[in-house]
Amino acid sequence: MAKILCESGGSSLRLTHICNRNVERKKQPWVPSDVIWTDDAQMVLNSDADIVIELIGGLHPAEQIVRGALQAGKSVVTANKQLIARHGPDLLQLAARHGRQLEFGASVAGGVPVLPALRTGLCGDRLHGIAGILNGTCNYILSRIESARIPFSEALEEAQSRGYAEADASEDLDGGDARAKLAILALAGLHTQVAPESVRARTIRAIDAVDFDYAAELGCTIRQISRADLKGNTLFADVGPCLVPADSPFGRVQRNLNLVLTSGQYGGDMAFLGAGAGGDPTAVAVVSDLMFVAEGFSAGRKRDAASNVSTAGISSDFETAWYLRFFVRDQPGIVARLAEILAAHRLNIDALLQKPGFDKASLPFVITLEPCRDTQLQPALEQMAGLDFSVRPCLCLPILR
Ligand SMILES: NC(=O)c1ccc[n+]([C@@H]2O[C@H](COP(=O)([O-])OP(=O)(O)OC[C@H]3O[C@@H](n4cnc5c(N)ncnc54)[C@H](OP(=O)(O)O)[C@@H]3O)[C@@H](O)[C@H]2O)c1
Repeated sequence: MAKILCESGGSSLRLTHICNRNVERKKQPWVPSDVIWTDDAQMVLNSDADIVIELIGGLHPAEQIVRGALQAGKSVVTANKQLIARHGPDLLQLAARHGRQLEFGASVAGGVPVLPALRTGLCGDRLHGIAGILNGTCNYILSRIESARIPFSEALEEAQSRGYAEADASEDLDGGDARAKLAILALAGLHTQVAPESVRARTIRAIDAVDFDYAAELGCTIRQISRADLKGNTLFADVGPCLVPADSPFGRVQRNLNLVLTSGQYGGDMAFLGAGAGGDPTAVAVVSDLMFVAEGFSAGRKRDAASNVSTAGISSDFETAWYLRFFVRDQPGIVARLAEILAAHRLNIDALLQKPGFDKASLPFVITLEPCRDTQLQPALEQMAGLDFSVRPCLCLPILR
């Protein structure tokens, strides 16, 4: 980011300070000699700089620095998804009270300019739905299992060795990262305040190579999808692996790319695709925010994002078709027992799929269900969990058509 800024000759932007810990070890020869290097954030807040860029990440001390900067009358650009997901509405109001800007375009989908689009290009529409592939690590792992039919553990190791996944990838795999991003998209696009923890997150850890075989039989593949639909006063929101048609925009997203689809009352559907992470694409998003804020100073222009945010009830009770995958110890009567439980809960079977050639001690097969609500399905799943022929918990995935 600093490099792009230093290399863009003729720009009205001037880098004045770089604040980091242990700055002596981090100094770079390409930084102009008049830039002040410091490990004291207060020195930046006390300076006459107009804009502070926060790229520390996490909540502490980033939150204090961002609040301090806004209170000191400076605008802020940040890429910090945890900070915006948890304190975005509050910080936007603080910025508005001080007549300053808070921009966070790089906090979701890295270099893909979806947040600026939501906050400017699409703000004339009334959006009611946002869905996305928001986590590049999950998409890399799932698309590798899809293309190479390797086990989940092997795809994770490969992602880690290539730098696409951290040593502890729990935040990515279990949906914590994506639901923080979904909360930010809901704030910017649906004007709805959502605590990330209130969004249900399902893990991708249970996905097996065989699930891609069965998904393919259904014309589908599997992706981690984050979705939010605003209906009246309720925000239906969920993050987790879903079956999506193989030839759909989601189904075609490979490796660590991100895709966000928006649905608006007037403008219809829009798609945003690109590099969701990586130093250079993310730096471009940060510099673009910076230029937007700087131009706004001279034009007296700013985005109004603080005034029309409301709260909504959060629900994960989507009505969809379902994919249920079982691993069982083969014995007579298994299908009849499962069908009996489903019928007792008034759930309709759409298809039953079983591929030949598997070990009878751990036999995978799939039942798909016609659309029903999540709350209607859960009691049946709980009853199935106690069946003695199950050798693994049932994997239950929404089928998005
Ligand atoms: N990289 C991406 O692809 C990407 C994509 C989208 C959004 N983001 C967001 O961008 C932000 C920066 O990410 P990054 O990948 O550049 O992270 P990073 O490589 O870890 O850089 C963070 C920098 O902040 C410094 N720092 C950490 N705690 C500090 C403290 N208490 N005081 C002073 N300096 C401190 C770190 O110093 P040390 O080196 O000493 O730890 C490091 O130089 C994060 O909010 C991240 O979520 C990144």
